[in-house]
Amino acid sequence: MVTATVPVDGPWSVDAEYTVDIAGVLDRFPALAAFAGQLGRTPLQEVPVPAGSARVLAKAEWRNPCGSVKDRTAFALLCDFLSQHENPAAVPLIEYSGGNLAGPLSVLAEQLGIDLTLVLSDATPDDYVHQLRGHGAKVELVDRCHGFLAVMNRARELAAAPGAHRQLLYQHRSQANVWMHRTSTGPEIADQLAGEFGGLVPDRFVASVGTGGTLVGVLAALKARHPAVRGVAVTPSELPYGSPLPPNGKPKYAGSGGLGDGIRQPFVLDGESDIAEFHTLSRDDALAAMAEYLDRTGTRIGSSAAANWKVAAEVARRLGPDGVVVTIFPDAGSPSEWAELGR
Ligand SMILES: Cc1ncc(COP(=O)(O)O)c(C=O)c1O
Repeated sequence: MVTATVPVDGPWSVDAEYTVDIAGVLDRFPALAAFAGQLGRTPLQEVPVPAGSARVLAKAEWRNPCGSVKDRTAFALLCDFLSQHENPAAVPLIEYSGGNLAGPLSVLAEQLGIDLTLVLSDATPDDYVHQLRGHGAKVELVDRCHGFLAVMNRARELAAAPGAHRQLLYQHRSQANVWMHRTSTGPEIADQLAGEFGGLVPDRFVASVGTGGTLVGVLAALKARHPAVRGVAVTPSELPYGSPLPPNGKPKYAGSGGLGDGIRQPFVLDGESDIAEFHTLSRDDALAAMAEYLDRTGTRIGSSAAANWKVAAEVARRLGPDGVVVTIFPDAGSPSEWAELGR
């Protein structure tokens, strides 16, 4: 596991051999085995694009047990931690979250009897914070004006405090995060393309970047079967990937974002040569796309899913009718996003 004292932009490279001893952990913790039984195997669905474009297929991650792609990440981070500790109740855990990771972490920590502290922005809706506390998590809120980097740094600071004896899961640097998408989300997509979709070969994989674990892990799995596939990264216009500007508190579409101060998410930096394009989308455009997608399909997708849809459609338009674009719909949108849209 990585320690809290390592800065987020310290050197990092993917360990392609990294594995988590899932079987051993599931034997010891039936609650995790039950969660694993409901995790993943989400549908891959064709989504609307303008005529003459490449086909676009999206993985519906809201079908995970707590409603988002971060259920996979929470599961992987906890399995990795548990595989390294005989008595997890003796080691309090700490993690930061932009939203979706906190939910499954709090549910699983409660079931496993793990002491969990979560650091979040004070922009997090009250009812969500209430839910996390209801599952027994301690929640610390950080002033939104300083951006997500400040949330991460506060969690690092709490974990590194002398005598704290708390383990930081550190999703931006955890090999288990990338490993999970390389061994579950990615192979599921590759199997669906080969089976249900009759052997389609993907040209591009489009994903919004929070940690970049989804983008980099899925891309590695797809590349193993389709070496020509390239990634497309999406981050909010309000703070794009690698922006030299300081972090800011502007609202952004969910779960994603640059970190500011020129910091690049370590997974994405390590895999930059496999990424063909970096795109941005504003929160307003992502919310408008949520409403448009609901009107056109009757299905609710969240703001990062809507951002992925818009960028995938643009990439598909340029690729033309013979291309294949795969993307991910991380969640179905939060109550506060839908309330803002009045839907
Ligand atoms: C809604 C949503 N979309 C996208 C992401 C990005 O996922 P990753 O951290 O794998 O880049 C997250 C991460 O929290 C998220 O919550």
